[in-house]
Amino acid sequence: MKKLFLLSLMMMMPMFSQAAGPSVQLDSIEVDASDHASLQRGMKTYVNYCLGCHTSQYQRYIRAAEDLHMPPELVAEHLIFSGQKVGEQMTNAMDPKLAASWFGAAPPDLTNEVNLRGADWVYTYMRSFYVDGARPYGVNNVVYPDVGMPNVLAELQGIQSKTCGQVTKTDAHGVAVVDSLTGNPITQESCDLLTVEEGTGSMTPAQFDATVYDLTNFMAYMSKPYKTDSQRIGMWAILFTLLMTVLFYFLKKEFWRDVH
Ligand code: HEC
Repeated sequence: MKKLFLLSLMMMMPMFSQAAGPSVQLDSIEVDASDHASLQRGMKTYVNYCLGCHTSQYQRYIRAAEDLHMPPELVAEHLIFSGQKVGEQMTNAMDPKLAASWFGAAPPDLTNEVNLRGADWVYTYMRSFYVDGARPYGVNNVVYPDVGMPNVLAELQGIQSKTCGQVTKTDAHGVAVVDSLTGNPITQESCDLLTVEEGTGSMTPAQFDATVYDLTNFMAYMSKPYKTDSQRIGMWAILFTLLMTVLFYFLKKEFWRDVH
């Protein structure tokens, strides 16, 4: 009886882990593996701002060049800063032990990051650093509290701080709650608003969002480099099945013609 009780408790565990899901509302994006221009821009940001600390050890430059429709010579000239060859994996020379002592944690490999956390998480995380004097690098992150990573895109985004202000109240699904009498959205005071100090970054908020979108799109590509291939092959497989259905239909008619 006791064993049965323990077993049923264990079977209920997934329910509890679901309840402890992300507490922050993530901004949702639709990644697009067929948008080569976006992926190319994303790769440029990635090699310029991320590869110094993070590796992508399961991604080769040459494979990205082919998949993103870029001539390998151009990739070698403009997107490799480590002196590596275009056939090599996207790695760096950082010693993980030293990095762990600098940042409190070693920067993880990011080839598989979007599979691990999801594109919405990465997109929101990269835009959620804010000034916090209590942290070693002067910044904290709403999505990943007390993260060891500095805000490496601050020169583009500008200085972002947490401020107070009125926000629209939303339910658990992110839908605005309205007053049942007036139909107006209900607002409430929040001190978790993220505001960028104007003129401190080289980009406007819209340009910055687009840059982080491209970056996330590229990271999503790295997580599933076969996605466009499988979509293309899938299309042919469906066309083939349709063609065969038509052929077999006429074949069946031919076989049964003499029976009736
Ligand atoms: C100066 C070094 C440095 C640079 C440059 C850097 N990061 Fe990081 N990053 C870190 C460290 C250190 C961590 C681990 C922090 C921790 O676990 O507290 C981290 C963690 C992350 C994580 C969370 C990993 C996880 O799931 O736990 C993501 C995502 C990430 N970085 C993305 C990026 C992207 C994208 C760029 C380029 C725009 C970038 N990083 C540039 C140091 C860096």
